Amino acid sequence: PNYGDKAGDRFLYNGYVLHGEMIKNGTIRDVKNFEFRPQDVVVASFPKSGTTWLEEIVFLIQTHLDFKLAASTILESRFPYLEYPYPGLKSIAKQQGGRMIKTHLPLSLLPDDLLQKGTKVIYIMRNPKDVAVSYYHFFRLLSFVNYKGEFRDFLKSFMKNEVVYTPYFPHVLEYWNNRDNPNLLVVHFEEMKKDPETVVQKISNFLGKDLTYDEVRMIVEHTRFENMAINPSVNYSHWEDLGLVNKNEGKFFRKGAVGDWQNYFSEDLNRDFDSWISQNLENTKLAFIFAD
Ligand code: A3P
Repeated sequence: PNYGDKAGDRFLYNGYVLHGEMIKNGTIRDVKNFEFRPQDVVVASFPKSGTTWLEEIVFLIQTHLDFKLAASTILESRFPYLEYPYPGLKSIAKQQGGRMIKTHLPLSLLPDDLLQKGTKVIYIMRNPKDVAVSYYHFFRLLSFVNYKGEFRDFLKSFMKNEVVYTPYFPHVLEYWNNRDNPNLLVVHFEEMKKDPETVVQKISNFLGKDLTYDEVRMIVEHTRFENMAINPSVNYSHWEDLGLVNKNEGKFFRKGAVGDWQNYFSEDLNRDFDSWISQNLENTKLAFIFAD
């Protein structure tokens, strides 16, 4: 089976499933030693949790609503992906001043002192049922993954921790357990859907930026699903030209909804998944929001 990349080449590294390449070429070791700066802002997440959405919000806050720059440069260049080969760690290290960096790595694979340096880290989490549905479609969409299984097969792999960046719960809990650290903010996809103004305000306070209510409203409007979906600077439409997507499998901006899982989970799957969630959340205070 192939759940993650071209060669189905996945490795278990310190308890997490990662692309083999990341380990072979030393990236994962270099990430541990990467020098974050106090002025940097990191957006971290388990894949398909709303990373892109949060990145665009953070970008606008950090640049004091530079809509021009946001429109003229694709998000991948404005917000490089730490552990990805492009642009790569060396290139990110060369960028001057405070950077905006995206990562899907769990806290334990990032530098040990990350939360002690003043670097601001924002983690976005989303309920695992919607994450699994979104991830399933993403693996069908990406031509170099080209997943052809049924949803139930994918879900089983997800629960067996075979998919890249799993196990899901430790990933979330590592961040969640540090939620009292003043340099870490945890936000939920579902609260952003329900009350984006409040969350944008919360993020700007966390980043030490003062925004007027009108500015908050402008960011919310710009980052609404419908607007981001047609914005070529953030919607990854250039992936089509690069041959990275199966065009018959939809788009990166798929539904952006809370509770779409209900269209995918049979009663049986739901029962198994619920008990899997309970086992994993035992003795934690973490709770997810599954419906709007
Ligand atoms: P769906 O596949 O459920 O539609 P990530 O950026 O972490 O890969 O997450 C992608 C998911 O977030 C996709 O979910 C995508 O549609 C959704 N998303 C992206 N921008 C959004 C927005 N502005 N509002 C709501 N959902 C958004």
